Amino acid sequence: MDIKIVATEAEGANIALEMVKKQLIQNPQSTFGLATGSSPLAFYKALTDSDLDFTKAISINLDEYVGLSEDNPQSYHYFMKENLFNKKPFKKNYLPNGMASDLEVETKQYDQIIANNPIDLQILGIGRNGHIGFNEPGTPFNSGTHVVDLTESTIEANSRFFANENEVPKQAISMGLGSIQKSKKIILFAYGETKAKAIQGCVSDPVTTNVPASILQNLDDVTLIIDDSAAKFIKK
Ligand code: GLP
Repeated sequence: MDIKIVATEAEGANIALEMVKKQLIQNPQSTFGLATGSSPLAFYKALTDSDLDFTKAISINLDEYVGLSEDNPQSYHYFMKENLFNKKPFKKNYLPNGMASDLEVETKQYDQIIANNPIDLQILGIGRNGHIGFNEPGTPFNSGTHVVDLTESTIEANSRFFANENEVPKQAISMGLGSIQKSKKIILFAYGETKAKAIQGCVSDPVTTNVPASILQNLDDVTLIIDDSAAKFIKK
């Protein structure tokens, strides 16, 4: 793992921007795995401020809440449009459909999309309990796209984006850990002390399904972009 400790999110965003630039030079038709949440926001701003061209590239997002439509401001579709896609058009953007009438069929179709478009560069954040995407603790490392019952801690952490905790959907569709680990390159952003325990589990503790992000220790090309507070408990 390449761990970059940065002073600001803007500094972290620039490191990732350079990696994306290289990827697009290598292959303008690259597939980017994308994440939501506050951690990649500075990075998306750097992308939209840049002159990078994504019109031949494909994006595949990690997850979406069950029951929220694309035009719901709390949906991940909406988040991605607001923060990236409206300003940087891609050839094609894929996100799971949280409104699908048959969620099992939707998960199978999403796995097919990922199989047809192998991910060159995956962007990740990390939950306080070490989840990536919405792969909560206990998720098998070989999982495909699946419907997730969100844990109490995730519902509580994500309630800051909703009027109150009761409005946070209880389920989501998430790309599985089996798919995430097939990405050729991964960049994970984590900022602030609330992420310090999760980063310790991701980097320093033994690999375990109790901390889904610990799976990254098994992979070849992972860059962690974190600040001092998130790095607090890792052995330097
Ligand atoms: C959600 C998302 C994750 C994200 C996590 C952390 O649960 N499904 O993809 O990494 O939140 O979010 P934040 O970056 O806002 O702390």
